[in-house]
Amino acid sequence: RTALPLAGKKVVVTAGGTIERIDPVRYISNDSSGKMGYALAKAAAELGGEVTLIAANTRLAPPAGVRVLSVESAREMYEAALGEWSDTDILVKAAAVADYRPKTPADRKLKKTGETMTLELVKNIDILETLGKQKTRQFLIGFAAETNDVEQYAMDKLRRKNCDLLVANDVTREGAGFGIDTNVASVYDANGLVTSFPLLSKEELGLRIMELAASRLAGAAK
Ligand code: PMT
Repeated sequence: RTALPLAGKKVVVTAGGTIERIDPVRYISNDSSGKMGYALAKAAAELGGEVTLIAANTRLAPPAGVRVLSVESAREMYEAALGEWSDTDILVKAAAVADYRPKTPADRKLKKTGETMTLELVKNIDILETLGKQKTRQFLIGFAAETNDVEQYAMDKLRRKNCDLLVANDVTREGAGFGIDTNVASVYDANGLVTSFPLLSKEELGLRIMELAASRLAGAAK
């Protein structure tokens, strides 16, 4: 019997969209459902990995055999990922993390006052970039949701965030992106395009991506 390709590997997947509080009942977020991340976590578990899913604001049933850590904000997602980091073999960042958060979230519900209201935002930590800089043994898979110049932005993110693979989805393509059950993605490494997948279910795409990661990891270990 041959061992499963991710046997003995710790895989951490982030999924969903972070919530950045304005006040106790209001927030800034995005359209990520978590489907892509959950599909990746499910695939990693099926391939034998020991999987932790860091989920922000999702309403999906946890995949069998996967440990789920629920978080809300980018800060909480970062802390959860950092807590898993030292013995992580593969980190997959499918989450849509808010780039900015309200500077001073109110601890009471904000009242309606003037005709306009200004919300000051400050930059969030870039989880992938921060962890990418301290990478030792970890294999990092970043995601990029783009609407234009996909290859250029993908390669830029891959380098800046020190990723081993970058999965780019063109969210303007029919059947790709946020909320739905399918996606269209291309995978890049430091040398450029590795493969362009056709329209696939997120489950199938998740499996193809995790298989690719497993084979890269096995190659590196030789
Ligand atoms: O959840 P679904 O509804 O299934 O949708 C899936 C998806 C479209 C959300 C997913 O496939 C996807 O593309 N996820 C990344 C979306 C994104 O917002 O990418 P980005 O270009 O903003 O960020 C690039 C990478 O850096 C991502 O891996 C992201 O997790 C990471 N990042 C970004 C900002 C930040 N502050 N910290 C980060 O770690």
